[in-house]
Amino acid sequence: MKLKLAVLPGDGIGPEIVDQAMKAVKAVSLKFKHELEFEFGLTGAVAIDEVGEPYPEKTHQLCMNADAVLFGAIGDPKYDNNPKATVRPEQGLLLMRKKLGLYANIRPVETFESLLHKSPLRRELVEGADFVAIRELTGGIYFGEKGRKDDGNTAFDTCTYTREEIERILKLGYEFAMKRNKKLTVVDKANVLESSRLWREIAQEMAPNYPEVTTEYMFVDNAAMQIIQWPKNFDVMVTENMFGDILTDEASVITGSLGLLPSASIGIHTSVFEPIHGSYPQAAGKDIANPIATILSAAMLFEYAFDLKEEGKLIRDAVAASMAEKVVTEDIAEGKAYKTSEVGDWIADYIAKA
Ligand code: IPM
Ligand code: MN
Repeated sequence: MKLKLAVLPGDGIGPEIVDQAMKAVKAVSLKFKHELEFEFGLTGAVAIDEVGEPYPEKTHQLCMNADAVLFGAIGDPKYDNNPKATVRPEQGLLLMRKKLGLYANIRPVETFESLLHKSPLRRELVEGADFVAIRELTGGIYFGEKGRKDDGNTAFDTCTYTREEIERILKLGYEFAMKRNKKLTVVDKANVLESSRLWREIAQEMAPNYPEVTTEYMFVDNAAMQIIQWPKNFDVMVTENMFGDILTDEASVITGSLGLLPSASIGIHTSVFEPIHGSYPQAAGKDIANPIATILSAAMLFEYAFDLKEEGKLIRDAVAASMAEKVVTEDIAEGKAYKTSEVGDWIADYIAKA
């Protein structure tokens, strides 16, 4: 099969972790005789530095013409503490989501046996936890009307959702639940927010169409608590953009490290696969960042963008083997810590020899 990828390393540790994922992608493509073609594109702070904007049209065209996008991370501290900056790396990510129509961000939360002791939660609470968080990605407060008034002394951001946006993400949630353990948790703040009340209203309309699925409604504050108290009670969770952003960072640490969780952003045009963590600027260039989340994002890329399940599984097996053999970076190492590039090489080698 012909696989045409756009590769967007981005900022901070992005280039290093994407390098490792590409080693796995190349090894798998070779093994299964796929014809791999890829091209790099600029995004984030590096794109601002080079061409003045964080998601240049050229990068967008590259993504539109690819079968799938592998993305690293964006963000640079030089913008974080400057609220007056008019161009920001994050705008690039938001623009990419909007222009590619990436309305659903799928974030699977799985635990690894060899890492349970690294979880901030007790083993018995987290062992076997396995759920999927589906975050709406192109609506809500991230994209609503925003601005300043009263000479700049009043600021507002608006959370807006349309029926169509809510229906399509809930439908995806139900489809995931049908393929899994048939439980859907709709997370909102319907006791306060009108947009949440529309979510809940629509979910209540749709629920009877999926009689095999148990629909559960949960307020976001309660959900934040339940994730750390009873993570095993979740199967598929669906929620709006900002709630999903916050809850999935929380969910990621229960697995033992933020460096482990991949994601797939799917929607109308080309899908994007990226780790859920950020650009970790303090570690950039040091060859210490954990590449696993990005390598697992490459596994999702094979599975979701090309329906190549065996290829995805081989990458997952290689990752599991590296953890079992303790070939891991310093964030999760017990004894010897391996470099980012060494973990990438080990995994690619495992794939080649499998
Ligand atoms: C994420 C990130 C982004 C978001 C930032 C970098 C804009 O935190 O992908 O979760 O908030 O969506
Ligand atoms: Mn986030």
